[in-house]
Amino acid sequence: VTKHDNRLAVPQYATPAEILAAVVANDWVNPEYKLLVLDARAPAPLAAAGQFFQLACPYDEDDQPYFRRPMSIYKADAAKGRVEFLYKVTGAGTRALAKLQTGETMRILGPLGIGFRLDPAYRHIVVIGRGVGLATLAPLAEAAAANNTGVTALLSARSPDHVMSVGRFAAIGAETVVLLDTDGSSDPDNVEAHLRRLHRNGRLDAVFVCGSNRLMLLAQRLCAELGIPGQVALEQQMACGIGMCFACVRDFQTADGVVSRRVCCEGPVFEIAEALTW
Ligand SMILES: Cc1cc2nc3c(=O)[nH]c(=O)nc-3n(C[C@H](O)[C@H](O)[C@H](O)COP(=O)(O)OP(=O)(O)OC[C@H]3O[C@@H](n4cnc5c(N)ncnc54)[C@H](O)[C@@H]3O)c2cc1C
Ligand code: FES
Repeated sequence: VTKHDNRLAVPQYATPAEILAAVVANDWVNPEYKLLVLDARAPAPLAAAGQFFQLACPYDEDDQPYFRRPMSIYKADAAKGRVEFLYKVTGAGTRALAKLQTGETMRILGPLGIGFRLDPAYRHIVVIGRGVGLATLAPLAEAAAANNTGVTALLSARSPDHVMSVGRFAAIGAETVVLLDTDGSSDPDNVEAHLRRLHRNGRLDAVFVCGSNRLMLLAQRLCAELGIPGQVALEQQMACGIGMCFACVRDFQTADGVVSRRVCCEGPVFEIAEALTW
């Protein structure tokens, strides 16, 4: 038992590996996001949903990203020995990543952190993601389906162009609901209506959220009201990614008061009831 007594048992993870990974593909999936596929035979079978890798992004004359950038595992294919990352081209690190060509190599460290915990007793879970949060939730949905747990995916996005991973969720038979800013369906009141419908229909044994503070707060409130467990994958800027520098500390509300935890090694997945906004 860890100090997070209210958690499900934390899985035993394998020791992360530092490797030189070759780029298999690095293609645009929409105007903002790219999918990076790496040949990573040693860590691929070890990677679990909700864990992440620290990517050493390349340097060039335009960008010198000093620290590694944490990226959630979008897919880990043990048979092919590949890991995939879905990333939004944002600043120095991801601009540098975006320039990588097939056959080039980069250093990666992982898998790192504590991922999602799936209780075999869950019959139907709901995953709620927005933006890059969808990258984190897709492998969770697949792990749930492999356990014969039903999944409803509430996928929030700015516009139809920004909806990603629908095919991944559909392939496992998930009920997929696309929620858009453009038609107002991503409005929290509408998301709440979906969650209450799922609860009435006995399809809300647990909630998993990533990528939106607003959606996290909504899920947190409903989980408390309905007595449902929930987990949230949090983002925080990181330096070492392995628990040594304390750059990634955030506050959490526990029964013993507010405590500080390192997102990189005590998370990035936490009990939703304990998460505080930022
Ligand atoms: C566990 C974890 C998993 C992640 N998974 C993914 C993923 O799958 N795909 C993905 O695209 N990104 C992911 N991120 C975010 C990623 O690590 C980078 O922070 C992000 O890609 C921006 O990096 P950059 O070098 O392009 O931009 P930078 O030049 O570092 O930053 C650009 C701007 O964004 C701000 N910023 C950077 N990082 C964050 C952050 N985490 N939160 C808030 N503001 C920030 C900076 O302050 C700056 O203003 C994840 C982060 C964490 C902690
Ligand atoms: S990033 Fe260094 S302790 Fe978390």
